[in-house]
Amino acid sequence: MHTQVLTGRRLEAVLDDVAALRIEVFRDWPYLYDGTLEYERSYLEAYRDGAGGVVVGAFDGTTLVGAATGSPLLEHAPEFGCGFEKAGIDPATVFYCAESVLLAPYRGQGIGHAFFTAREDHARALGYGFSAFCAVIRPQGHPLRPATYQPLDAFWMKRGYKPLPDVIARFDWKDIDQPHATSKNLQFWGRAL
Ligand SMILES: CC(C)(COP(=O)(O)OP(=O)(O)OC[C@H]1O[C@@H](n2cnc3c(N)ncnc32)[C@H](O)[C@@H]1OP(=O)(O)O)[C@@H](O)C(=O)NCCC(=O)NCCS
Repeated sequence: MHTQVLTGRRLEAVLDDVAALRIEVFRDWPYLYDGTLEYERSYLEAYRDGAGGVVVGAFDGTTLVGAATGSPLLEHAPEFGCGFEKAGIDPATVFYCAESVLLAPYRGQGIGHAFFTAREDHARALGYGFSAFCAVIRPQGHPLRPATYQPLDAFWMKRGYKPLPDVIARFDWKDIDQPHATSKNLQFWGRAL
């Protein structure tokens, strides 16, 4: 298994596979995302079209088994800039590590670390001084929370990230157990690069 930083045409070539991976992996707790290929494809095209967008692919041979995406925050989600400003962080300096997905059989072999390292290196090379991502906040008593679920907080802290107090994103999507899309709060985490 190996990872590759993809931009331009090589990024375009994997977009359908990244869309399928996102739908499969994000169906699980805590995202419970009931996604469609059509929406995913148009969402992901922003990484191809934006100036600083990147996809890091994880491959088993030539098969894509995981992917991580990233983009300058103000290119991807300018509406979140205000929260960063209030926290004393200039949003123009923030690179947004949007999402990481890896098929379950390939986990625990260091790909999650490689996804962060590649995106942080990409961000530094573009001159960004701060890296951030967000994670969905679910209530403790949620009926679909698996009893054995281990949060990724320890991994993120080990990578140098901390929750940014009061920097919260809001996204709407349809959960697998709900008839309609609902709003979710997501906690931003960040670190200086
Ligand atoms: C996030 C994800 C890509 C990490 O992939 P990975 O290749 O398994 O991560 P790594 O092997 O690099 O492990 C990273 C660290 O986290 C730990 N870890 C990985 N999965 C874990 C889990 N489920 N529970 C607790 N710790 C875990 C590992 O032990 C490792 O710690 P170490 O550095 O002390 O050895 C993968 O778990 C995934 O696709 N999860 C589902 C989607 C998701 O939640 N994405 C994150 C938000 S977008």
